[in-house]
Amino acid sequence: MSTYIEDTRKVTTRRLVEMKSRGEKISMLTAYDYTMAKIVDGAGMDVILVGDSASNVMAGNVTTLPMTLDQMIYHAQSVVRGVKRALVVVDMPFGTYQGNSKEALSNAIRIMKETGADCLKLEGGSEIRESIERILTAGIPVMGHLGLTPQSINKFGTYTVRAKDEAEAAKLREDAKLLEEIGCCSMVLEKIPASLATEVSQSLSIPTIGIGAGSGCDGQVLVVHDMLGMNQGFSPRFLRRYADLHHIMTEAIHDYVVDVKAGDFPNANEQY
Ligand code: KIV
Repeated sequence: MSTYIEDTRKVTTRRLVEMKSRGEKISMLTAYDYTMAKIVDGAGMDVILVGDSASNVMAGNVTTLPMTLDQMIYHAQSVVRGVKRALVVVDMPFGTYQGNSKEALSNAIRIMKETGADCLKLEGGSEIRESIERILTAGIPVMGHLGLTPQSINKFGTYTVRAKDEAEAAKLREDAKLLEEIGCCSMVLEKIPASLATEVSQSLSIPTIGIGAGSGCDGQVLVVHDMLGMNQGFSPRFLRRYADLHHIMTEAIHDYVVDVKAGDFPNANEQY
């Protein structure tokens, strides 16, 4: 394994902007628990996202909508305990910031106070402007999220690529500018055409982090269970698998079952 992380200072939102301005790509991956966060951080990740995708990969739900504020706080507390260097970003779950900006602020403050995270991520553009602005007034950094926004799956009805038509692409361009103007520190662009993501990334001074949005973004994010190959049933085109942990883990666990059944485990050296 190569050692490529020379800068061991804690990553800040300000440093993400500096990385963009000097053309250094930003690496981001999800984590939801202490042990995984420690591994991801130790491997040199710039940003760790406590995503509400925990709803899918940790809890087995079909969508991210069931995730509660208390559940996100529990996951974020576990992750923060395992991280020394990466910037920790926490998703505000569905229903905690849409509609009422005062509630959005008190929910945001609860996450920051109870977890020690560095930044929050909210899905949407102009519709949630008031909530983002209010959260920013408390000095809480906000990462935006445009394109495919999984909390709106019931409106979209599908997880296919967004902003393919000109009207939706124009709205995304406007929302991206708005998020920058009101003070977001960065934004995720999910599942949009690569040409649009490149254009938006080049038009902004804050970094974009893509997932299924091509190489023109300033950084990339994946769900850790997907890129490690733990999750066999999910294989969209944008996903690169860096390991086949499903196979490795299944074999290891099966070997243990065989050893226990055969009376081979524990052996003389594995007992007191
Ligand atoms: O919840 C999540 O994991 C996310 C990423 C897919 C960006 O929002």
